[in-house]
Amino acid sequence: MYERFRRFLFRLDPERAHNLGIVAARMGQRLLPGMLERRFAFESERLHTEVLGQSFASPVGIAAGFDKNARLIPFWGILGCGFAEVGSITAKRSKGNRRPRAFRLEEAQAIINRMGLNNQGAARIGRRLAKGSPHPLPVAISLAKTHDPSIEGAAAIEDFATSFSACAPFASMVVLNLSCPNTAEGRTFEDPNALDELLTRIVPLNQALDNPLPILIKLSPPVSDRFVLDSEVDELLDVSRAHNVAGVVASNTESGRDLLDVPQSKLDAIGPGGLSGAPLRSRSTALVRYLYEKTEGTMTIVGVGGVSSGAHAYEKIRAGASLVQLYTGMVYEGPAVFQRIKQDLAGLLERDGFATVAEAVGADTEISARPV
Ligand SMILES: Cc1cc2nc3c(=O)[nH]c(=O)nc-3n(C[C@H](O)[C@H](O)[C@H](O)COP(=O)(O)O)c2cc1C
Repeated sequence: MYERFRRFLFRLDPERAHNLGIVAARMGQRLLPGMLERRFAFESERLHTEVLGQSFASPVGIAAGFDKNARLIPFWGILGCGFAEVGSITAKRSKGNRRPRAFRLEEAQAIINRMGLNNQGAARIGRRLAKGSPHPLPVAISLAKTHDPSIEGAAAIEDFATSFSACAPFASMVVLNLSCPNTAEGRTFEDPNALDELLTRIVPLNQALDNPLPILIKLSPPVSDRFVLDSEVDELLDVSRAHNVAGVVASNTESGRDLLDVPQSKLDAIGPGGLSGAPLRSRSTALVRYLYEKTEGTMTIVGVGGVSSGAHAYEKIRAGASLVQLYTGMVYEGPAVFQRIKQDLAGLLERDGFATVAEAVGADTEISARPV
């Protein structure tokens, strides 16, 4: 059924198609929750996992950027997502960049976007999160700095702090989006000193909550598949560990175009933006593996980039991811993608003799023999 809807959607501009999808999902979650839940149901004890002090019915969730304004949380539960990351949320409401700003590359099963952190702002989204809580599944809030280059230095840190205060009381975890490639000034917070200052402000705010949240950071993919690592990732990890950051989301979209086999003229016509989907898969998995080995499994890794099947999710898990997310896979495969991934993942775990997802985490790494 999605195939026909998809053919229709893919005739529209990607952003219009996305907005239409959101309208349909909102109608579905209001009018037909029971029917949809039965349609997308799949549960397996093998997929159940405990990480970051929370319980997840499955390790597969929706990545940041799809539900920027946290309007679809019940829908993610209906689809059988294990968790949902909403946002990125910024202190001030923002319209983002000029349209068009999202482009499908169907031949590569990829998307290029330069949305520019459009969202309704932390106050409004915080009220929505409060109204919907307790949520039917674990909800991560993704926080970023307001898309405005004049907000910098101490003001940039306060921007994050404002969003944190407005939204964190109604969430299960928080992801600091350090790596959005679509900010006017670049990746300001993917810098060890900036991250240190940011965490110095956010961690005490978190400790003051009735229920402090696990804090994660979201990084960009490495610059090549060979993963010649710049020491910056190591420094970011050192700073994170010093502030008791619980995990890393790997990875955000890719600014370069070397992963694509698409005519240059087409890329020139699209212009700048972050690349997501199939071409990103192995590069983000390389980062997952690196992070898992470097931290010896002591930090929770959330693997994201190019996942659209159970085998892809399994690859990220075996590389060290305890949780997995997708965005572009949902665009190409439709809402049943979560059900299919879960079915296939449960089968793969069973085939390989793993009683739970947790047992498979890091199985393909140097430290797979780590005692649990
Ligand atoms: C249109 C679009 C908007 C996105 N917006 C955000 C965002 O606001 N915050 C964020 O952390 N990641 C954002 N992402 C990145 C995704 O969360 C994810 O890291 C990336 O797309 C790789 O996963 P995928 O290959 O499954 O899409 C966005 C991705 C797309 C395609």
